Amino acid sequence: MKVLFVCLGNICRSPAAEGVFRMMSGATVDSAGTAGWHVGKPPYGPMQAAAAQRGIALGDLRARQFGRGDFEAFDLIIAMDANNLEDIEAQRPRGNETSVRLFTDYAPDLGASEVPDPYYTRDFDGALDLIDACAKGLTEALNAQSRDKLD
Ligand code: 4NP
Repeated sequence: MKVLFVCLGNICRSPAAEGVFRMMSGATVDSAGTAGWHVGKPPYGPMQAAAAQRGIALGDLRARQFGRGDFEAFDLIIAMDANNLEDIEAQRPRGNETSVRLFTDYAPDLGASEVPDPYYTRDFDGALDLIDACAKGLTEALNAQSRDKLD
């Protein structure tokens, strides 16, 4: 299972989701931004610091821009907010049926409809708490899916 996390800049939310979910699931994971502003840069310092507090190293990641080819390269594309989802869907190649979901769909009990952007809110820990809960839900959903396939 190849999973791609997508946010706006690919320096806060999606690299954090990539790092958290990689540790949790062992799945093949990547992240990208719908905007190209930070291409080639490592995750934002305050996000790296907040993740490091939890034992998650993001320093080797580099930002890249989301593109149409990602629909073919990944099995599941996860957006951090509704704007990301819309920007992703606008690039879907004709006939492609790759699933694109909101990350918060995997933690319905929290009642959140997006991962708020800590680049603006400055709440890096809060974003990581939400990312952690969504990553747990996604891990469970994928495990349930692979169990169903075995049955
Ligand atoms: P991200 O946060 O989408 O979670 O990576 C942002 C980072 C940078 C900018 C916007 C959002 N920016 O405007 O530079």
